[in-house]
Amino acid sequence: MYLSIEGIHKSFNTKNKGKLKVLDNINLDIEQGDFVSIVGPSGCGKSTLLYLIAGLEKSDTGSITVSGKKVKNPGPDRVVVFQEDGLFPWLTVLDNVTYGLKLKGLSKKEIKEKAIDVLKMVHLSNYIDSYPHQLSGGMKQRVSIARALVMEPDILLMDEPFSALDEQTRMVLHKELLEIWRKTKVTIFFVTHNIREAVQLSEKVVVFATRPGRIKEIIPVPSTKDGIMPDSVTLYTEQKILKILQEEIEKVLKEEMGDDYSFETNHIHRDHSGDLGSNI
Ligand SMILES: Nc1ncnc2c1ncn2[C@@H]1O[C@H](COP(=O)(O)OP(=O)(O)OP(=O)(O)O)[C@@H](O)[C@H]1O
Ligand SMILES: [Mg+2]
Repeated sequence: MYLSIEGIHKSFNTKNKGKLKVLDNINLDIEQGDFVSIVGPSGCGKSTLLYLIAGLEKSDTGSITVSGKKVKNPGPDRVVVFQEDGLFPWLTVLDNVTYGLKLKGLSKKEIKEKAIDVLKMVHLSNYIDSYPHQLSGGMKQRVSIARALVMEPDILLMDEPFSALDEQTRMVLHKELLEIWRKTKVTIFFVTHNIREAVQLSEKVVVFATRPGRIKEIIPVPSTKDGIMPDSVTLYTEQKILKILQEEIEKVLKEEMGDDYSFETNHIHRDHSGDLGSNI
């Protein structure tokens, strides 16, 4: 298996609540070139799992291997795109994108060519001399994606990369990301609160249960050869995931709201945005 997550347990020491068990026996296999989304209630450990794959956190037990090699530290083969762009405001688009490449010991010409190639992929080649503050939120997130892609990672780890964007911009970026995925064949591990986004983008949706975080179910997303799915199939898959999640979301709300909890179960079904973030 390409990316293999085996028997991962992870706890954090907290000031008030002692040891907090966040991930409980996570086992997941991902094939090279897969596009996998992770959905689950807030706090169920999605980002923690992503950081473990990135090598930014260490697990208590279990192992993560990429191409048979154990993940111990961060590496350029596993690059993270965060919700916030994290660009350097004092550098131009080009310099932000080439920043990491400079550590690879390439010539100036090679660095620039690689950066321009990826900036073309995200349709920003006309903005190479702009500074981040001169760009829209969507454009800044495109620069972040370009900055990740220029490292030619094996795995792109994306933690809610589009959740701060408006619906139209998000749709454009979905299309671009799918084009990039098809072109580069990079493996994508995509964390989101948005069920619709997960279904539209990925081949598999991993649904997490919470407290502690566990994998509840893995839902394959049906696809056609041309990649265009009838709305009815997409909607059916979304509803299926929503149903699985509903129980978990209610569990969180009950714990957080205690006696004030009076959440109509139908309420979630009426929300057609597919964005569960505001409900969790
Ligand atoms: N470094 C840390 N130290 C202590 N607790 C932490 C740390 N990182 C995360 N946690 C806790 O672990 C739990 C899982 O956090 P995590 O960020 O992985 O959840 P998540 O599923 O990504 O949530 P969200 O959807 O809100 O982003 C939370 O209760 C969080 O407070
Ligand atoms: Mg998170």
